Amino acid sequence: MTKKDLDWGNIGFKYRQTDKRFVANFKDGKWDEGSLVDDPTVTLNESAGMLQYCQQVFEGMKAYTWEDGSVVCFRPDMNAERMYNSAQRIEMPSVPKELFLKAIDEVVKANIDWVPPYGSGASLYIRPYEFATGIVIGVAPADEYQFRVFTTPVGPYYKGGATPIAIQVSDFDRAAPRGTGAVKAGLNYAMSLHSSVIAHSNGYAENLYLDPATRTYVEETGGSNVIFVDKDGNLVVPKSDSILPSITRRSIVYIAEHYLNLKVDERPVRYDEIKNFQECALCGTAAVISPVGRIVNHDEVIELPSGMEKAGEVVSKLYDTITGIQSGKIEAPEGWIRKIC
Ligand code: PLP
Ligand code: COI
Repeated sequence: MTKKDLDWGNIGFKYRQTDKRFVANFKDGKWDEGSLVDDPTVTLNESAGMLQYCQQVFEGMKAYTWEDGSVVCFRPDMNAERMYNSAQRIEMPSVPKELFLKAIDEVVKANIDWVPPYGSGASLYIRPYEFATGIVIGVAPADEYQFRVFTTPVGPYYKGGATPIAIQVSDFDRAAPRGTGAVKAGLNYAMSLHSSVIAHSNGYAENLYLDPATRTYVEETGGSNVIFVDKDGNLVVPKSDSILPSITRRSIVYIAEHYLNLKVDERPVRYDEIKNFQECALCGTAAVISPVGRIVNHDEVIELPSGMEKAGEVVSKLYDTITGIQSGKIEAPEGWIRKIC
């Protein structure tokens, strides 16, 4: 094992080609066992369901190095389950959980030199995804699919890491009621690119989406769920059928209740309540827990009392606890950690 010569503390969040990726194919009604390959390119027929009707789902997860040198993954069974459900919604054959977990183990072991060292603040981002390789021309599900997993070492998703960010309320909507917002399909991200480019050009790190039906409730951002802390120090977590069931958010709720003895209120949250809250943060695999200091909706500016200098007290505690669990410094609840090697 020879770790790659990277400046691990400053690698940013970008794609770096690593050594191996896992590939399995679905053909004649069944998945093959899959294997590791060197080639990062994918060749598709011009009329593949992926290219024509965007039949694709994906996941995002991370592997971490612990102080004793072991490499672990955080709740991969939850990603396996979510991708299983996403595939069902897009009429794709789901990848069985055993195949999903085998692929994660193999691809992480095969790219062990790319797993950032303990204490670097970086981790190995793992991107499992499935897409239609079969040919379609009328609008219909394809009959052949590919499941792939690649890895890339990453640092913080938002510049500045734990420094609070400013976000804007999007004028566009993310996911319709009874639409695909609750599944992790590429199509949800394609439609977010336009508002994401606008947010970045306006100087904001992300878009906050409101519920499309009434535009009065908070949904989530383009790449993370949102959490709030009220004036009494309780965690307030937006609930909606059209947001992605974030594994980080569900873990935070557990940590708040069982590790920090906080009261958690999971319910629809009105946008006009935000001005009464004390703290806000975005949460997700890539985002980890990123404090939000300011939310802007055209000429309305909400400054969270926790400010733009540093994370508020509760968000800091949640951040320290979840990253402590992920890095092995704090004991994890049963079943949260999968030791890969
Ligand atoms: N919401 C969206 C739209 C996302 O893309 C992500 C990222 O995966 C999340 C929420 C956070 O989910 P998780 O915590 O499972 O990574
Ligand atoms: C993740 O957090 O894993 C995601 O898929 C979000 C994406 C914005 C990178």
